[in-house]
Amino acid sequence: MKLIDINKSYGSLAVLKNFSLEFEENKICCLLGPSGCGKTTILNIISSLVEYEGIVKRERGNISYIFQDQRLLPNLTVEKNLEYVLLSTGMNKSERMEKIDKVLALMELKDKKKSYPYQLSGGMLQRTAMARAFIYPSNLLLMDEPFKGLDISLKKRLIDEFLKLWSRDKRTVVFVTHDIDEALLIADRIVLLSDKAEIILDEKVNQSHNNRNLNSDNLIKIRKSIYKNFV
Ligand SMILES: Nc1ncnc2c1ncn2[C@@H]1O[C@H](COP(=O)(O)OP(=O)(O)OP(=O)(O)O)[C@@H](O)[C@H]1O
Ligand SMILES: [Mg+2]
Repeated sequence: MKLIDINKSYGSLAVLKNFSLEFEENKICCLLGPSGCGKTTILNIISSLVEYEGIVKRERGNISYIFQDQRLLPNLTVEKNLEYVLLSTGMNKSERMEKIDKVLALMELKDKKKSYPYQLSGGMLQRTAMARAFIYPSNLLLMDEPFKGLDISLKKRLIDEFLKLWSRDKRTVVFVTHDIDEALLIADRIVLLSDKAEIILDEKVNQSHNNRNLNSDNLIKIRKSIYKNFV
């Protein structure tokens, strides 16, 4: 997928100016950058949710999008929220239920299957949104701070589950986060944006996702260069 010379303004506010970025297929690219620099805007452009000038070149196929604010359907239970995105796939009821049960177990949400969104904690809402994005058959996954606000141990478990799901069913992932260590654990590549959405750092993380060690020389080096440019 390729973004070429994208320009995006909201009224008089220019957010993206001749922004170009190429994403490698079936790799995980993390976008880091200060609040308000345009990360969500980039995901919204990729998914054509907002208008823009420029070119987005993309392989055919569906997009899964984990929004920054989840956007679950309030009148449907967790289970029904997940089933909703499977209705168009041609799966029969028992196939749908099997898939839903599997992903809910992975997201540690089994006992919340019959709960409505208002009955869930913030972290549970995030996990439901992630489950929904994953069961939807797509070749592009957009994730906007999906682990935000989770406690460190749950976050670590979900990152591991996410990487397992992804390695079994690879997709191109654009992952937005403010958490540098999260990016170091997940990314094949980390792109750091300035407050004007200029690319100030573009680092490949040439390391398998299995058991990445944040204290390894390679990751320490990358963390240092992100810090130097970011903090
Ligand atoms: N619909 C909108 N109308 C007007 N301005 C908008 C709109 N959406 C975003 N903006 C502005 O565009 C800029 C970029 O917003 P965006 O949501 O892309 O930032 P972000 O990098 O995702 O920030 P954060 O890390 O806080 O989520 C901000 O200044 C924001 O106020
Ligand atoms: Mg955002």
